[in-house]
This record gives sequence, C-alpha cells and structure tokens, in this order.
Amino acid sequence: MKKTLALALAVVMSLGLLASCGPKEPASNSGTNPPSSASQSQGGDASSIPDAPKEGGTVGVCIYKFDDAFMTTYRNSLQEILESKGYKVTVVDGNNDQAKQNEQINTFITQKVDALIINPVMTSAADQIIDLVKTADIPTVLINREPTAEQMAAYDKLVYVGCDAAQSGTFQGELILETPNQGDINGDGKISYIMIQGDPENIDAQLRTEYSVKALQDAGKEVEQLNLTRGDWDRNRGQEIAANDLAQFGDKIEVIFCNNDDMAIGALQSIQQAGRKVNEDIYLVGVDALDAALSEVMNGNMTGTVLNDAVGQATEAVNQMELLLNGTTYSSGNQSVYVDYVKVTPDNAKDFVK
Ligand code: BGC
Repeated sequence: MKKTLALALAVVMSLGLLASCGPKEPASNSGTNPPSSASQSQGGDASSIPDAPKEGGTVGVCIYKFDDAFMTTYRNSLQEILESKGYKVTVVDGNNDQAKQNEQINTFITQKVDALIINPVMTSAADQIIDLVKTADIPTVLINREPTAEQMAAYDKLVYVGCDAAQSGTFQGELILETPNQGDINGDGKISYIMIQGDPENIDAQLRTEYSVKALQDAGKEVEQLNLTRGDWDRNRGQEIAANDLAQFGDKIEVIFCNNDDMAIGALQSIQQAGRKVNEDIYLVGVDALDAALSEVMNGNMTGTVLNDAVGQATEAVNQMELLLNGTTYSSGNQSVYVDYVKVTPDNAKDFVK
C-alpha cells in the first residue's frame, strides 16, 4: 500500500502540477507553495488509499456551458484523458442553467455512474449539488468554480480541483509593472485602467479583479479605475465594453484588464478599430493562454496573458477522481487541490501553444 502511495505521489510531483493542496491558501498567498508534507496525501487521508485504481468505470461530466472557449479546451482534455484510461464518459452541456445541470446530475445518479466531475453553473448552488451527490454516495470532483471550504466539508468523497485565482490577478498586475513605463503611458503619475470582468458570481472573476490592481498598488503605484463592467467571460461582450469605454474615455485609458482571454480578444478588435496600438499607447492583458491569445502576445497585440492550465487541471481532476474511486476520503479544510498559473509574455508564449 505504501508503495502505491509513493508511486502516486511521485507521478503527481514529477508532473509538477500541484501548486498547493489542502486548505485554500489565504488570498494573499500567490499559491506558489510546493506541496507540504501534510498535503502529500493529495487532500485525502493517506491511510485510505487502497492498492489499485479502479479503471473502466462510468464517469459523468457536467460542464457549465459548452460555449466557453476555455472550458472547451478543458472538457476535450478531460474526455481524452478519461477515455485513454478506459472509462466510459458522458459529457453534458448545462447551457449556463443551474436547474438544467441539477437535472443532468440526477440523471447520472439514476444511471449509477461510478464518479462525477462537475463544473458548477453557479458556485452559489454548490450546497444543492453537494447534497445531491452525497445522498447518492457518488465520489465527485468539482472543477473550475470553487465553493467554500465549509460547503465542501459536508461530504468527504468530494474534492475541488482548480487554481488559486488570486495568483492569476497578481500575474496580470506584474505584466503591467514589467512594461517600460510600468503602465503609466501618459506620465501623469497614475495608471488609468478599465476592468472587463467575468461573471462576478465566480471567485475567479472576483479575485482576478482585486489582485491585478492590488499588485500595482503593492508596488506603490497610484491607480485610477475608469470603469468596471461585467462581460461574463464572453468575447462579444469584451468587444462591446471596450468599444464603449474607448469612446467614452479615449486616451485616458492606459490599461485594459480582462478577466479572461476571450474578452481580451474581443477588446483587441475595439482597440484596433479605435486606431490604438497595444504596447505603444495602451496595454492589454488577459488570462487563460488560449491559442488565439498566445498568437496576439507573440505578435505584440496583447501585452501578456496568464496560463490557466486546462490540461494540467484535467489531469489532476482525473487523478483525484481515481483516488476517490480507490476509497480516499477528504477531511474538512483539505478539499482543494491547486494547479499553478504561469505568467505568459512574448518571451515564453511559444512554449504554451497547443
Ligand atoms: C476562465 C474563463 C472561463 C471561466 C468559466 C475561468 O477560470 O479563465 O475563461 O470562462 O473559468 O468558469
């Protein structure tokens, strides 16, 4: 048994996937801690890990909506990894509708799937979801939208796999601080920005918004928020919001922070239509490292982005699912497993093209 655990740990550590494990780090921690010895049980109770993984079972995967650029890469990767390991996988589209997703979870429960991987539509619905899977006694990995530790504590066969959203915000702020004029293009002593936010119900949107600006302030910079608008992670919304703000604030805008790349790519269209030039008279940053964004970083149309490692998270989600299938249980406060974000600049962007 010890050998199996050692092997599992070696695999996880050699993949270098885990940023931190166990209780969510305080938000001020950028999540770069190596796994501590306490976290080496991968969030579970080491004593409960049995000998061999159960393979060839059935897995239900619920995605909040298929029409999301980042979650498309993520779900394809999940499906590929699960199928390559011999699982029978069904992936369903929640269409951004929590009631619909609850029905899908119920259908998977009726079908008696061996495990569930769920990307909740609304984090605020986590209690309902956890209640459903707990009552049905189905091992469950939650992904991408993190509930609170208290919510997860209700069920010991439940684990969350994701990233420390604060870290991605900090990296965005650092990308601006690394520019020649540190974001103050017009030299008036302050960084004037607009923020294009994802879905504000989502912790990723909240913390990226907060920590991108905090990084500037922590570096002693004065900041001025010209506008903050909800863009729901959507490219078209990013384009519309940037167009409106560029019309309203014009040259005052020095930085456009977007909570994700899809909105940044939309914003780029409006920047170009307004005759502005990224990295000359305006800066633009996103998160995710979508292929389209990596190209724009390489050709100078985006200042930078942050790798949100879809493949790494999918790999870790399957790894945690197998631990659950093997009988691992998770104690309260040890139910979040994080994969590191990586700062992406023109220097390293090519390393992340898929
Ligand atoms: C990604 C977004 C995505 C969202 C979905 C975030 O982590 O950065 O691109 O739309 O997750 O919940």
